[in-house]
Amino acid sequence: MLQRSLVLLKPDCVERRLMGQVISRFEAKGLNIVAMKMLRVSPELSKQHYQEHVEKPFYPSLEEFITSAPIVALAVEGLDVIRLIRDMLGATNGLNAAPGTIRGDYSSSRQMNLVHASDSPESAKRELALYFADADFCEHELLLTKSLRAKDEA
Ligand code: CMP
Repeated sequence: MLQRSLVLLKPDCVERRLMGQVISRFEAKGLNIVAMKMLRVSPELSKQHYQEHVEKPFYPSLEEFITSAPIVALAVEGLDVIRLIRDMLGATNGLNAAPGTIRGDYSSSRQMNLVHASDSPESAKRELALYFADADFCEHELLLTKSLRAKDEA
């Protein structure tokens, strides 16, 4: 099923100049970036984004981190992309993430785990609306799509 996921390259990803390497992995996999912007997350946006974590003991530290430097928000489109990107990221804690995953290769932290991605279609819809307006999405059929998969693979 064709889906969109909200991906955030977090402050540690920007600070460590790993944006290009992370984006390259999504491109190499054949996913489409349909919206992208750099921004500074405000405390208000952090509370909206992490609404299910606001009452948790680690939330103040998480908010301090996510608002500490710019981030890059991307809308990434592809078949089954919500599960696929979570698989590509690996376990939340970089120390537990399998080698070959983005966090497994670049992170050794639970908080500074480089990238956020939506965990369900419902979260993706809610999160994409926090970062992007309808006009921000650039619909475009990339010419090389026919070299990535067969027509009957949806
Ligand atoms: P993310 O995928 O952005 O979703 C919630 C974030 O909270 C998670 O990545 C981690 O960065 C952070 N997080 C999750 N659990 C903990 C925890 N127990 N302590 C500190 N940070 C956490």
